[in-house]
Amino acid sequence: MQVLASAKVGLVSATLVGVISLSAAESAGDINIPAGYRNWFHVNTMVIDRASPLFDQLGGMHIIHINATGEAALKKGGPYPDGTIFLDDLHEFSISDGSYVEGALKALVIMVKDKKYASTGGWGWQALAGGDPKKPLVTDPAKQCFACHQPRKDQDYVYSTYIP
Ligand code: HEC
Repeated sequence: MQVLASAKVGLVSATLVGVISLSAAESAGDINIPAGYRNWFHVNTMVIDRASPLFDQLGGMHIIHINATGEAALKKGGPYPDGTIFLDDLHEFSISDGSYVEGALKALVIMVKDKKYASTGGWGWQALAGGDPKKPLVTDPAKQCFACHQPRKDQDYVYSTYIP
């Protein structure tokens, strides 16, 4: 399990390095901050801390949510109906006496299920720096996002699974 966890963190790290090296595009396209995401179902939380060599680029507390449309599918392991949204609420964190404490918002990372995104697995992909709709980080979703989610085709390109 330890090996698996490290491998996952490695994957995520590679992702964000690519994303952050790009300057913000002019428009977030059609993917914006979904209303009410703070009240969605909490899928899981992952922390990338100083022990990771890539902490500088993408350390943070990844807090993943799913909207009500996709909740039942999450519990079955996919596939997801159109209208499903996954949102990674990425925050800074500090460590105080061994406790990892959530800090400021770093980015909102979003996947939206819709047939119109057929070329990228049926999902639309975007990341907004600081949660600012004027600071989209994704200009080429196929390369920056979808390519790395492809190994999870059996789970409809979603890495997260339901943790009871
Ligand atoms: C290098 C591989 C990689 C790349 C590139 C990548 N991701 Fe992910 N993504 C992952 C992994 C691994 C997880 C699971 C994280 C966890 O378990 O907490 C994940 C999780 C997610 C989730 C939560 C749902 C899920 O699949 O678990 C969203 C939303 C997401 N990524 C969006 C994006 C977006 C948007 C991009 C492009 C900016 C992107 N990802 C690029 C590897 C990647």
